[in-house]
Amino acid sequence: MSQQIVLGILANAGGVGKTTLAVHLAYELGRKGLSAALIDLDPQRALDVFCGLAAADYEHSVVRVLSKGDQGDWPLTPLWDSQIEVCQGHPAMSQLADELVIRRRGEYALADRLRAVPLPHDVVILDCPATLGKICENAVAASSHILVPIQLEMKSVSGVADLVQWLLGIIEDLQLEPSPPILGLVPSLYDKRRGIHRQYLQQLPEVAEQLQITLYPEIRDSAEFKNASALGLPLQKYRPAHPACQDFRVLAEDVANLTVSRSS
Ligand SMILES: Nc1ncnc2c1ncn2[C@@H]1O[C@H](COP(=O)(O)OP(=O)(O)OP(=O)(O)O)[C@@H](O)[C@H]1O
Ligand SMILES: [Mg+2]
Repeated sequence: MSQQIVLGILANAGGVGKTTLAVHLAYELGRKGLSAALIDLDPQRALDVFCGLAAADYEHSVVRVLSKGDQGDWPLTPLWDSQIEVCQGHPAMSQLADELVIRRRGEYALADRLRAVPLPHDVVILDCPATLGKICENAVAASSHILVPIQLEMKSVSGVADLVQWLLGIIEDLQLEPSPPILGLVPSLYDKRRGIHRQYLQQLPEVAEQLQITLYPEIRDSAEFKNASALGLPLQKYRPAHPACQDFRVLAEDVANLTVSRSS
């Protein structure tokens, strides 16, 4: 029996590779024989594009599941002939976020639903919006672990400490027990030809050590990621021999080990 891991993918910046990480990690876990559910919490529903899906209507979206009084099941769509499924997002997530501010246990809406109607997957991956509001608070409350992709730009590197502070504040305010640890930082969109990227990458081990957070191997910048997602595919399926496919291995191994170690 494996223990479910719920991974919240969070960053306090847009376009840092959250959705890319969610999709490629899910696929890598699938290759290891694990099942994974991707949940799109972003009103912009980028996962639809990355997964090659048409937009879902409200009834078949995560927003319906989180709406007040809903007792239905998770609407899941299987992906890529694998054990990966996705619960699609919907633009109405923005209105739902406003409503959650005044709803009793609004921060726990997702956690409560995952408890009431458990997903059977080994790993649940929460793809979060870039703004740290009610939706991200819901993700933290529902997560067993947090993963933080980080772009090698000044604002992202200096923003990590702010994100950690925000997380600690939420964990304390919501009295999460056990509190979800940050599984690690994942440097994203790394272009070794750019001096500034090399410089920030060199600084990151010290930043991670100060914050006592694991630093994962960087995901390289490659136009093939964009080409793959334009076709609704992960890079591992689009170009299985591409070197960037290796960039998710260590992280996927750690997540797979967690599903085992938490159950023993
Ligand atoms: N390693 C990479 N190499 C090249 N392009 C990438 C890489 N990772 C992500 N991208 C591209 O960068 C853009 C932003 O990535 P992504 O959507 O994953 O970020 P995000 O943090 O989820 O953004 P948002 O905050 O808008 O949700 C996308 O067009 C994506 O295809
Ligand atoms: Mg995204």
